Amino acid sequence: MTTRPIKRVIPGMETSDGAGVRIRRSIGQSQLIRLDPFLMLDEFGSDKAADYLAGFPSHPHRGFETVTYLIEGHMLHEDHLGNRGNLRNGGVQWMTAGRGIVHSEMPQQEDGVMRGFQLWLNLPAAEKMKPAGYRDIQPEQIPRIPVGDSEIRLIAGTLMVEGKNHTGAEAGGSTEPLYADLHLAPGDALELPLASHLNGMLYLYEGDAQLDGQALQRSAATVLGEGDTLTLNAGSSGARVLLIAGKPIGEPVVQYGPFVMNSRQEIEQALRDYQSGRLTA
Ligand code: CO
Repeated sequence: MTTRPIKRVIPGMETSDGAGVRIRRSIGQSQLIRLDPFLMLDEFGSDKAADYLAGFPSHPHRGFETVTYLIEGHMLHEDHLGNRGNLRNGGVQWMTAGRGIVHSEMPQQEDGVMRGFQLWLNLPAAEKMKPAGYRDIQPEQIPRIPVGDSEIRLIAGTLMVEGKNHTGAEAGGSTEPLYADLHLAPGDALELPLASHLNGMLYLYEGDAQLDGQALQRSAATVLGEGDTLTLNAGSSGARVLLIAGKPIGEPVVQYGPFVMNSRQEIEQALRDYQSGRLTA
């Protein structure tokens, strides 16, 4: 058993996307800052409607998946396939862009807090052109695993907790994505296995916590070094931490905005397909 150390800290940088939604981007803030198979991690959170109200009007994607986890607020997804999904507090939208999707993500509230995360998960070359797909995961479909006074919400993947294996709301996938929201009670410790072939990161979004004695920075992606286990300790007010891991793909990544392929030629093809209305054909 080797404890995973902190390898790198990527503080979330304030930026705006969509029609001017204010977000904090850690992974993906430049094309050099990625964690294979993850392309991007955005945190959006504001109690000022002006920061999010314009939402993400109709836009395309090709070549990867987006995982949106809403912890507060209400957002409506609509896409060219006719899917209409209501994302509410604690719910997840798992969208496979594959060969192409055109969708919008619009807030359904005019005041109050809107808070959540969007993760971009790359697809290997063999799967980039598969048909688009979409799944709405309701909050009650996400397993809640109690550990002492703490709780793990297992969105995706499998996780061994106190000798028992658990499976998340979403499972499988060639990159074996693991996505867990760890709610640590004040002063609690949590030890979790994390298979050594997976790239992993932590994202502290509330409270205070330490990884193996080192304080985690809030609203930053903490990339984990090599090892097969991790030990977290919460501070006196508890902590909420995302644990995100996956198997690296190891292929070239060429990104142009919402298109992520393996070569420039494939990006040019995506642009031509989008312009001629064939992205989703
Ligand atoms: Co989108």
